[in-house]
Amino acid sequence: MYKLYKEHLLTLHDNNKHRTLNTQERNINFLDFSTNDYLNLSKNNEVINAAITSAQKYGVGSTGSRLLSGNLPLYEEFEEIIAKDKNTESSLLFSSGFQANVTALSSLLDEKVLQAKALVFFDKLNHSSLYQAVFLSKAELCRYHHCDIQHLESLLENYKEDLRPKFIVTETIFGMDGDIAPLKEIVEIATKYKAFLYLDEAHATGIFGKNGYGFSTTIQLDHIPHVVMGTFSKAIGCSGGYIASHKVIIDFLINKATGFVYSTAPSPHVIGAALIAWKMIKSLQNERSHLQNLGNILRAKLKEYGFDTGASTTHIIPIILKGEKICLQIQDELLKQKIIVSGIRPPTVPYNSSRLRIALTSKHQLQDVERLVNCLKIVIS
Ligand SMILES: Cc1ncc(COP(=O)(O)O)c(C=O)c1O
Repeated sequence: MYKLYKEHLLTLHDNNKHRTLNTQERNINFLDFSTNDYLNLSKNNEVINAAITSAQKYGVGSTGSRLLSGNLPLYEEFEEIIAKDKNTESSLLFSSGFQANVTALSSLLDEKVLQAKALVFFDKLNHSSLYQAVFLSKAELCRYHHCDIQHLESLLENYKEDLRPKFIVTETIFGMDGDIAPLKEIVEIATKYKAFLYLDEAHATGIFGKNGYGFSTTIQLDHIPHVVMGTFSKAIGCSGGYIASHKVIIDFLINKATGFVYSTAPSPHVIGAALIAWKMIKSLQNERSHLQNLGNILRAKLKEYGFDTGASTTHIIPIILKGEKICLQIQDELLKQKIIVSGIRPPTVPYNSSRLRIALTSKHQLQDVERLVNCLKIVIS
């Protein structure tokens, strides 16, 4: 049996798709564009102290599922705050964003509950956790071209007479492309075709929307069934995820989402830290503006030198290179110059669109992006 796995690994290797874990220390002398800690909260003293205080009060482990020994007032306090900030009736915490997506979306698509196989209209570039949820549920997947409203609508139009429940699933900021879904239009389409809307705000949480609490806070969603998912693993600087929605949906997930029912509740110190970081978000407007400005500057500089930054308009900027090998080579060369960027290859991104993913954080300054661009110019020439 090992032989088959080994053969598969060799194929990955031959195609420049083999991945290895990198144990390199995050040396302070390195210029790091690979982290999702967009607001630098993971090392914030208040956040760290909240982790310590919560661990001292509740322990490091939660000791069991929320439905058994693991429920804590801390979790319920946080869930109330999330619901309020997201303008939803209720919310639910999960140990990771991946877990939240897989278990919540697959449960919502449950054929027995819906009494039919759901139709899922799905942006092609959605995150793997969303794909896994649909695969697990065995619902029918109808993928639309990335952010293409006409295509989405034409697919829904094709299924107009089909009475099966319809869902639209999209990220609000796409984590590998840094572009923003046309939410207003998507909501209009969801309304027109009576579809359930599932939004993943992993990369928008902390960065966009009212007080930084995501794009869903900027649109009217009350008239359609919807779920908004987000994470604490990126701008919040911790780990974990949440689902914000109608009370009925949260009650349903508490009863039906196996990744909630049969999993130990998140660690109290992580949730204690995430709660404080979440509260801090509203005071970080200057950091958000800085990120946006720096993103605009970097994109303009990269374009000036002929780099393809795709459709990015945010703090996440891909440099699309069309080749796994060149992508890894440039990543290595930049590392020699003490610059860390993520090399992203298929299947994480579509074939022929390997890329360096530049993630800006509020700590980056103009001279940092200038250094990156200058090094890139030298490496490429
Ligand atoms: C869009 C999106 N959703 C969900 C996840 C999973 O979140 P987590 O890393 O908290 O498990 C990620 C992580 O990269 C993501 O980019």
